[in-house]
Amino acid sequence: MAMRLAVNIDHIATIRQARKTDEPDPVAAAVLCELAGAQGITVHLRGDRRHMQDRDIEVLQKTVGTHLNVEMAATSEMIRIAQTIKPYRVTLVPERTDEVTTEGGLDVVLHSGNLERAVRQLLDSRIDVSIFVDPDIEQIRHCSKIRAPRVELNTGKYSDTWKDGDWPAELEKIRVAARAAHKMGLTVFAGHGLTYRNVDGIAGVAEIEELNIGHSIIARASLVGLEAAVREMIALLRSPRRLPGR
Ligand code: PXP
Repeated sequence: MAMRLAVNIDHIATIRQARKTDEPDPVAAAVLCELAGAQGITVHLRGDRRHMQDRDIEVLQKTVGTHLNVEMAATSEMIRIAQTIKPYRVTLVPERTDEVTTEGGLDVVLHSGNLERAVRQLLDSRIDVSIFVDPDIEQIRHCSKIRAPRVELNTGKYSDTWKDGDWPAELEKIRVAARAAHKMGLTVFAGHGLTYRNVDGIAGVAEIEELNIGHSIIARASLVGLEAAVREMIALLRSPRRLPGR
């Protein structure tokens, strides 16, 4: 089965927040992504509300027809919001106010007590849970230990090294981590930094069921339109191939 695509639409809200107006509306963007074939919509509700607002999550939960995946830090404020809005899935991510974007996977080994509690609270509220982790066996083992049902492997390093670094070694780490997680019974997702040019390697990893891609799709959408951008990415996931150019 082809790998599913969930589109991260945070940047639509970033454009809106640049003027603090009501356009563009992420809710409209989600509809267009779904019409183009996206199988999920992902948003990050940050503590500083720099892009997505609480209202967006509330309306998206009512309007998204595929599934809504909300990335959030495992804080009591966020868990309370999730328990109220009840998105299909929550992905627990690390969060720092001075970062431009998520910088790495969660340290599940270090924060296992807090994360185990958050996972249990979310699952008890019938919300699916995934944890964003680096492709590191020890981290993945801890995800299994705290009974998280799914992991999202951080492809950030693979993406960073793709242009002029040792990306084959990073791809191999993703492959090994995906296989190990799958063997432990975890569902495997992946994402961060993926583009139309570097996605082919990751799209070839059989254990990965779904990719979360944001920046590259929204960047392309600003030039060719959102539906065309989503369709092009889905085509690449169906038949992974290397595009010419950088
Ligand atoms: N996965 C997670 C956990 C993220 O935090 C992000 C960025 O919000 C993405 C995937 C998507 O990354 P990108 O915007 O680089 O495609």
